[in-house]
Amino acid sequence: MVVRPHPPVKRPQAPPGALDEAFGWDDLYAAMQRELTYAIAPAGPSDAAALARVHVDAWRETYAGILPSIYLERMSSALHEHRWRQRLLSTREATLAAEGHKGLVGYVSAERSRRSRTGVEAEITTLYVLRAAQGHGLGRELFTAAARVMAARGATSLVVWVLRDNLKARGFYERLGGRRADVGNEYVGGAVVASVLYRWPDLENWLTA
Ligand SMILES: CC(C)(COP(=O)(O)OP(=O)(O)OC[C@H]1O[C@@H](n2cnc3c(N)ncnc32)[C@H](O)[C@@H]1OP(=O)(O)O)[C@@H](O)C(=O)NCCC(=O)NCCS
Repeated sequence: MVVRPHPPVKRPQAPPGALDEAFGWDDLYAAMQRELTYAIAPAGPSDAAALARVHVDAWRETYAGILPSIYLERMSSALHEHRWRQRLLSTREATLAAEGHKGLVGYVSAERSRRSRTGVEAEITTLYVLRAAQGHGLGRELFTAAARVMAARGATSLVVWVLRDNLKARGFYERLGGRRADVGNEYVGGAVVASVLYRWPDLENWLTA
């Protein structure tokens, strides 16, 4: 799946009377489009190193001031590469990666979380977009792509846990229609941190709305 910039990049206008070709406007426009165009595809074990790099960078960007700084400083790409390789060998979880022209910039993982009385619930277990690629619709596309995969695997509802103090991500999930469903505590990075659960109770309806 190819994700184009959202909102669409406006084509620059040449000054009045000037020829587009003379200014190289077409090349500039094509470069701007390319910069913000991403391909989303399923990830496999050979993506482990790239996913680990994005993982470490995104955590440092996201959790400064939320998780202990010593934990963030000591995060190791090598360790996370190993963990990602193991994780990607599992068929339980689906991971999709977003690649730009300079390499991977984001990813999402999801799995079936539990079977409830009303059907099968899926969980988005991780979703990260590097800051440089945020704000152009990629987070929504990754989330939607993972939701589609889980719906195809039989999920009828979807949840995601987010740290309570990660207000930007909470705003994003609320914008996508997630309803606050629970609160809890997680042990992350050597600290106990409060978290909030968002739920999409009717996945099919959300996907077709
Ligand atoms: C949260 C995250 C995935 C969102 O991705 P993104 O590419 O920046 O978001 P998008 O551009 O796809 O935004 C989708 C919609 O949400 C809205 N939105 C994004 N952030 C928002 C916020 N903080 N508050 C309100 N709305 C928000 C956008 O305006 C957009 O609305 P629209 O589609 O109706 O125009 C991304 O910012 C990220 O990776 N953050 C750091 C990591 C993180 O916190 N991950 C979640 C861990 S649980």
